[in-house]
Formats: sequence, structure tokens, C-alpha cells
Amino acid sequence: MSDVIEAVRQRYAEKAVQMARGAACCDSSCCSDMECSDGYSSEELTAIGIDPSSSLGCGNPTLLADLKRGEHVLDLGSGAGLDVLLSARRVGPDGHAYGVDMTDEMLAVARENQAKARVANATFLKGTIEAIPLPDASVDVVISNCVINLAADKAVVLREAYRVLRPGGRFAVADMVALAELPAEVKRSLDEWAGCVAGTIPIDEYARELRNAGFAGIDIEVTREVRLDGADGAVASAYIRARKELSL
Ligand SMILES: C[S@@+](CC[C@H](N)C(=O)[O-])C[C@H]1O[C@@H](n2cnc3c(N)ncnc32)[C@H](O)[C@@H]1O
Repeated sequence: MSDVIEAVRQRYAEKAVQMARGAACCDSSCCSDMECSDGYSSEELTAIGIDPSSSLGCGNPTLLADLKRGEHVLDLGSGAGLDVLLSARRVGPDGHAYGVDMTDEMLAVARENQAKARVANATFLKGTIEAIPLPDASVDVVISNCVINLAADKAVVLREAYRVLRPGGRFAVADMVALAELPAEVKRSLDEWAGCVAGTIPIDEYARELRNAGFAGIDIEVTREVRLDGADGAVASAYIRARKELSL
């Protein structure tokens, strides 16, 4: 396992253990200046019965995805499962929501949250987003919340997202992007990488990697600049949309 993947896994294993103990976890996560529940309506959080501090994300990709009844959705790096469970409710009993995560401790928290929320049409799978454990063309929508920036090779992840989408499928992701060059010591730090800062790439590069993976209709919208010691305004949260064309 690469140093980056192991640093990321360890960080989120620790966060999962804190969550299991009932500690609020979203402070010092990806979006350290965001409220845990940013982007989620109180109605949907109440309906699902999950503490908003379970979110380690930087937006609400379930809103962005415009989910419809009967669709199959995949969440890359599903963490404690909030977006998977919300998606499962939106697609209804004829649809299904999958979450993929590599961290056993996080999968355990997600499955516990699923039991609490009594959501039957969701499945949490162990695996990496670099080798998604689902067949080709098996989902209608790929969502993700503050995870792709953590990947050492974004191109591999975006190709995998494209592979599992059906023709006509949608990619609707909240992620962190770079707006300016980061200080060298920040870039070198595995801790900053695991905290969703050092692994960010510029918007142009993100769009290019999406195009190279085969996506069309690419739209990247910066939603909020993040305050960072010594590098104010260098990273931001963003909503990223793209689609897999119907006829290839
Ligand atoms: C910043 S948290 C976001 C969790 C969730 N999406 C949310 O919004 O709360 C990152 C999650 O992605 C998982 N993760 C990071 N890199 C991964 C990879 N390469 N493959 C699979 N899971 C990964 C971590 O285990 C962790 O649960």
C-alpha cells in the first residue's frame, strides 16, 4: 500500500473510532471552516436520523445529482454513510445506493448508521476507488464527497468512475480543488494530504482528467474558499458535474 493511501486510511480509521465513541468529527476534517451539516436540510437529516457530525465532506452531492426514483447510485469514499443513506431514500425501494470505502472502521460506522436509519436499499462495499468493486456500466450516478482529492492518481479514479457508469450516467461530486500554488512544505506533508489539502489539483487539471477519462458536459463550480494557515485562498470546495454520453 502506498504511503499516501496508508496515511489516508489511518486518518479516517481514527476518525471512525471517534465517531463510534460519539465524538463530533467534522472539525479538522476536509472543510475545517464548514459546519458539519452545511448543504443538508434539517428535514433530510431528521428523516435519516443520523448525526450531521458524521459528515466529513465539503458539500451535498445528493442535491447536485438530481436523483430519481429507481436509479442506482454509487458513492466513492462513503465514510460514515450519510450520502449513501440519503441517496437510498431518494431513489426509493426500486433503486439502490452503494458506498465504497477502503477503511474497515468507517465501513463499520456506516453499517451501524444504516441499521439505525432502517434503510434496506443500500450496500457498503469494501474496496478502493482506484479499483471499484462493481461491474462495468452498473450505476446511473456516481457521487462523492471530498474524497477524490485524497487519491494519489486522480486519472485512475476518474476512469473507474466512467467505467461503472451506464451510458447517459451522471457524475456529481463535491470535492476540494486548488486555486493557487501551495507552499512546498504543505505539499510534502502526508498529514496535509490526508486532510484534503495537499492532494488538491487545479480546476483546469480536474477538467482535463475528466475529459481524458471520457466524460462530457464538464462543469466545475467553486462554492467556498477555505481558510488555511499560510495559504489563504489556496484551496476551495467545488461542485463538479459531468456525464457519460449516451451513444459512444
Ligand atoms: C474525507 S472522508 C469523506 C467521507 C464521506 N464522503 C463524507 O462526506 O463524510 C474520506 C473517506 O474516503 C475514504 N477513502 C479515501 N481514499 C480512499 C480510496 N482510495 N479508496 C477508498 N476509500 C477511500 C476514507 O476511508 C474516508 O472514509
